[in-house]
Amino acid sequence: MRANPSSRVFQFSDRVHELSAEELSIYRQLDPSKIPQHIAIIMDGNGRWAGKRALKRFLGHQQGAESVQFVVETASRINLPWLTLYAFSLENNLRRPKSEVSFLMKLLKNYLVGNVKRMNDNNVRMAYIGRTCDLPSEVRETMQWASEATTKNTGTTLTLALNYGSRSELVDATRAVVRSLIDEAHHRGCSLEDMLAADGLESRIDEQQITGSLYTAGMPDPDLVIRTSGEQRISNFLLWQIAYAEIFVTDRLWPDFRGLHLLEAIADYQRRDRRFGGLSESTDEAIDNLQPAEEVAEEIKDHLTPQPDPELSRR
Ligand code: FPP
Repeated sequence: MRANPSSRVFQFSDRVHELSAEELSIYRQLDPSKIPQHIAIIMDGNGRWAGKRALKRFLGHQQGAESVQFVVETASRINLPWLTLYAFSLENNLRRPKSEVSFLMKLLKNYLVGNVKRMNDNNVRMAYIGRTCDLPSEVRETMQWASEATTKNTGTTLTLALNYGSRSELVDATRAVVRSLIDEAHHRGCSLEDMLAADGLESRIDEQQITGSLYTAGMPDPDLVIRTSGEQRISNFLLWQIAYAEIFVTDRLWPDFRGLHLLEAIADYQRRDRRFGGLSESTDEAIDNLQPAEEVAEEIKDHLTPQPDPELSRR
């Protein structure tokens, strides 16, 4: 496995002894220097979990919130730097019954109030992405309180995607880029058109500019995306950021997902060969011994030059 190009200085965890016996047996099979930098999870299946038990959907969400805390704590024990959870999508907000949305908001608020102490005990810092400004004000206040109360923590950063949609994130980023260009042109006393003509459009709008204008600015891209409950789709989650992420889908429903399963997903990830559009490491070694490009060009020349069709030349 090759390291993510934006890789960090790795720090071994000194909290491994806090893992359960089952977790430890999987952790021991891992290469601790190749724990992903960033794992993003699409938590799905709360409703089905409840349905299978003839329970109301909201009990599935409640159980799902328990899973969140189990997984966060395991992540912090193995020193995972970034964990991002898709907790509430823009589409959930628009398309679910009002009663379910309002239950999810209450659950989120209670979750934050009830778990900030545990976040601090586990050195977890809280952050959010999404159009959070459209959430109810009492939820926003609690979110702000939780992030301020955990801001000094230096372990795992837990980012909750709330009222999040990747397409709207890209729209917001594009608007931010255009707004900052207009402001700059205004500041320089020229028109936007003249400024772009002088600087060159390519240098003013590029991948770096867009990456830096996303909600996730300053975060590394996810290395691994996990989706529970067996659906093989991305559901408008971090579309830009997961360009080279590995995807792990499990049939397990989110309320049944635990730290142990996070470690299993990491074990699977460590068996993958990440290439970032390049070639695998074994092929790279072979490339080091390659013959010069001119020799190769000469060798393959005949294969690339169109050959006359013998049938046609007989006619
Ligand atoms: C999908 O289940 C999950 C959600 C709608 C959001 C995830 C919410 C939680 C895990 C609970 C609260 C989270 C926090 C951070 C406190 P679904 O209802 O789509 O399940 P289904 O597809 O089986 O119906």
